[in-house]
Amino acid sequence: MVTGAAKGIGRAICEVFLKNGAKVVGLDISEPAEPLSGDIVYLKLDVSSTGDCEQVYGEIVTRLERIDILVNCAGITVDAMTKKMTEEQFDRVVAVNLKGTWNLTRLVGPAMQQQKSGSIINISSVVGVFGNVGQSNYAATKAGVVGMTKSWAKEFSMKGGNVRVNAIAPGYTMTDMMKTVPPDILEKIKGTTMLGRLAEPSEIANAVLFLASDLSTYVTGELINVNGGMRL
Ligand code: CAA
Repeated sequence: MVTGAAKGIGRAICEVFLKNGAKVVGLDISEPAEPLSGDIVYLKLDVSSTGDCEQVYGEIVTRLERIDILVNCAGITVDAMTKKMTEEQFDRVVAVNLKGTWNLTRLVGPAMQQQKSGSIINISSVVGVFGNVGQSNYAATKAGVVGMTKSWAKEFSMKGGNVRVNAIAPGYTMTDMMKTVPPDILEKIKGTTMLGRLAEPSEIANAVLFLASDLSTYVTGELINVNGGMRL
């Protein structure tokens, strides 16, 4: 299960999973402009709605025998300097990025714990680690995702649960989200990476694949930074 599957990093994750033989359920509030082909089913889901998550999760468990991997990738930015940010702008980002991650994991995590296997990967951000001008709402949610990751790594491994929960903190990545960033600020951002460039979505997806796979069976409760050596 991959949320935020229609575009950007979520789409790249679906792509790499399909290439590696997974059966994928792609969840997103909008339809993909160009659906991926292969063993993938797209379902519409607003992750910020607890009720919708319960309903869609119910549909998925009737279709699939088991869920082995959950990637919480759905996320939005609504950037504004804190002095200008409205309550609505703050709450909207919290609802999607933070509560949206909680909404599905509270259902999938315990089921994985019962089947005694599973890997959950949460997409945090470099902004959750270092903070950023104009992103106090987004930074709060992405740091919060790390806290939930560590809590769930502890909870879902209890009683032999054997569920691994990790987070990835991508750096600035070539997706539609970057379109909101003014060009001069974008140039500054590139300069803060050791590699001097933004990430390709596939470079983030490959790290997710590692955490989803049996190459990482002893990795849990971790945050992996995939940011080209960024120091904001
Ligand atoms: N780094 C350094 N300085 C920044 C900055 C940044 N990221 N963002 C803004 N500033 C500076 C501006 O250069 C400006 O400086 P001066 O006063 O010296 O000119 C000052 O902060 C105020 O900025 P604006 O004049 O642009 O103020 P505004 O109210 O018109 O807009 C803003 C504020 C909406 C935050 C706008 O600056 C902006 O869009 N900034 C970029 C925010 C950003 O980096 N978003 C990342 C989106 S991608 C993402 O979040 C994915 C991920 O996980 C990495």
